[in-house]
Amino acid sequence: MRINDERKSIVDAVKVGLLGLGTVGGGTVNVLKRNVEEIARRAGRGIVITHAAARDLNKPRICDTDGITLTTDPMAVVNDSEVEIIIELIGGDGLAKDLVMAAIAQGKHVVTANKALIAKHGNEIFAAAQDKGVMVAFEAAVAGGIPIIKAIREGLAGNKIQWLAGIINGTGNFILTEMRDKGRDFDDVLKEAQELGYAEADPTFDVEGIDAAHKLTILASIAFGLPLQFEAAFTEGISKITREDVNFAEELGYRIKHLGISRRTDRGVELRVHPTLIPERRLIANVDGVMNAVLVMGDAVGPTLYYGAGAGDEPTASAVVADLVDVVRVLTTDPENRVPHLAFQPDALSDLPILSMDEVETAYYLRMQADDRPGVLADVTRILGDSGISIEAIIQKEPQPDSDKASIIMLTHTVLEKQMNQAISNIEALDSIHGEVTRIRMESLDAS
Ligand code: HSE
Repeated sequence: MRINDERKSIVDAVKVGLLGLGTVGGGTVNVLKRNVEEIARRAGRGIVITHAAARDLNKPRICDTDGITLTTDPMAVVNDSEVEIIIELIGGDGLAKDLVMAAIAQGKHVVTANKALIAKHGNEIFAAAQDKGVMVAFEAAVAGGIPIIKAIREGLAGNKIQWLAGIINGTGNFILTEMRDKGRDFDDVLKEAQELGYAEADPTFDVEGIDAAHKLTILASIAFGLPLQFEAAFTEGISKITREDVNFAEELGYRIKHLGISRRTDRGVELRVHPTLIPERRLIANVDGVMNAVLVMGDAVGPTLYYGAGAGDEPTASAVVADLVDVVRVLTTDPENRVPHLAFQPDALSDLPILSMDEVETAYYLRMQADDRPGVLADVTRILGDSGISIEAIIQKEPQPDSDKASIIMLTHTVLEKQMNQAISNIEALDSIHGEVTRIRMESLDAS
């Protein structure tokens, strides 16, 4: 940048208000400061955080806040007449929603990393933003630093997207990886994820799939052009996955991953988060630790895979700052011609229904504890056969020295979930089967 341009860029710098100075807020301040010139060259103007709100001003921070006016009142930042863009990093959908709606009402652009807010209230927020001609950018809400929103919304805009599947919660993936590789306990790994700043404020959001469902809801809307429908998402967590299941899956050539899956079918759209067996040879099966990855199948491009850090201060800041640059670039362009929030024009969204889980078709891994005597396996396979369920593989593990029960593990071909539910309840009713049947859904994630 030439000296004159540089001076002009600083004088003209866009003033930004930051709500939340935690992990991602601190990372955003650091990235913006470190890459100030590069960012101004890209955006065409400088970008400077002039105001920030934090709950506790005396808390130690990962960033230097010199030159930023600090307050504990986030609404004061929104209301400050100097501020043109608001970055919302508070999280949740209470106060954060009020702040975002107030910013939009004042004609301010918003950048947010808040997946719960967008998944639950995005339709209302985007309508208000459309009305006011302002942008609401949310790349950081899904898969942290991976530019997956931009990839689907813009890079794949020529495709009819068929399905997508993602590891979109780093904490859950970290737990499954450590359980598999090091035999560590669930709680112990979760604690480490919390210390590293990856876990949600309420970690059940991570382990029960709610955080992933927020992100999947957003991805599905952008992929298929649907209004956001978080309440229709099916979620099942990883807390019931045992070391045994992880080992049996490996023995059969599979890995267990906590996947968010959305698929377009003739009957509607699948929207589901659950532990899933996937062939170990798939690249996505080898995404370990806190890393995220999203596999997207487009009719023209085929399968594409996006991989990177799904959480953390600077990876998430990378997405926040990219959104800021986008907002600054379009400050002077025609508001009618911006990239639509949900990729499709607001009046062109589809009314394709989200399918109930009963109507989803998938293959299954089943594990059950059975009496070790003749006829037991025959009873189980008869029930499956009567329900139209075909078996792909079966292994029986002899009883451990301290037990008289054998483990039966089966892989099935695809079947409707409601048929499998019926078969499982019939199997559980057998005298020879003890406890609940463990069921983990299975996806081949191949190019069909
Ligand atoms: N708790 C989330 C995760 C943070 O573990 O992926 C990023 O959204």
